[in-house]
Amino acid sequence: MQKIILDCDPGMDDALAVITGLADKNIEILGITTVAGNVELSHTTRNALNLLEYLNEDLDVYCGLDKPLKRDLHTATEFHGETGMGDIELPNSSKGFSKRYAEFYLECAEKYPQEVELVAVGPLTNVAAALTKYPELKTLLKGITIMGGSLCGGNITPHAEFNIFVDPEAANIVFSSGLEVKMVGLDATMKGQFTINELEDLRKSNSKYSRATMEIFDSMFRVREKIGMTSVTFHDTIAMIAPVYEDAFKFEEKNILVGIDEKRGETAENFCGGKIMVAVDFDKTWFKKYLIETLN
Ligand code: BDR
Ligand code: CA
Repeated sequence: MQKIILDCDPGMDDALAVITGLADKNIEILGITTVAGNVELSHTTRNALNLLEYLNEDLDVYCGLDKPLKRDLHTATEFHGETGMGDIELPNSSKGFSKRYAEFYLECAEKYPQEVELVAVGPLTNVAAALTKYPELKTLLKGITIMGGSLCGGNITPHAEFNIFVDPEAANIVFSSGLEVKMVGLDATMKGQFTINELEDLRKSNSKYSRATMEIFDSMFRVREKIGMTSVTFHDTIAMIAPVYEDAFKFEEKNILVGIDEKRGETAENFCGGKIMVAVDFDKTWFKKYLIETLN
């Protein structure tokens, strides 16, 4: 079982990643940390707590940082709705959260040296700040997998993917940290798009994980239909499973430099950039089968 700490900004596709991570028997989520991104931190934290309660899962939530290291927060409410969960209203959880998210990283990494993969599927603010505060994480963690970046063009500007665009200074710290970083960006995740009819087999399943996935999937469709989109992409789920199912991806080692000023958030090949394992391709046929088997 791969031990994972999931840093996320739920966010609808983040919520899908949480559900799949909990359903997958090869993954052990040690805890969830939240960051500001798709929506403000109060919403991402509340959504994580409410989702866990809805799924009847007992997992601790740690609340991270409420804005990027050096910039104002840029949200994505047009895709995730004002509260981050589209038109879904989950019952309110009464459970609280801790603010000691960086200490949680350190405790887990010290308890299981070289075994814990930090998977970050939001802006890299929390991860960068924790690596700065506790540099020993660089030797204690197994690695970091991120949903972010792109070599094939952006989704927020022509050059930048959303998570890197929101906090490029944080991405720069993580990319040059010396830790093994797997960048699972748009080159791979855009392969994991489904139209409304493509996951019908999942709709037939009655497990709590399939049902919650389809509720969120349908809501994502309703939001996207209004802006003329015809499919839903499982960005964050794809990044979350990458450390466990590497064979479903094609990884290539590249030197990646993050654009800070001009072309903010661009992740371009450049000899001055950090050595990163970049997912350049992903197997959609495998993924569909995986989702149906795992969530069922
Ligand atoms: C990423 O941006 C966010 O809106 C999604 O949750 C995902 O992490 C895709 O670019
Ligand atoms: Ca996300």
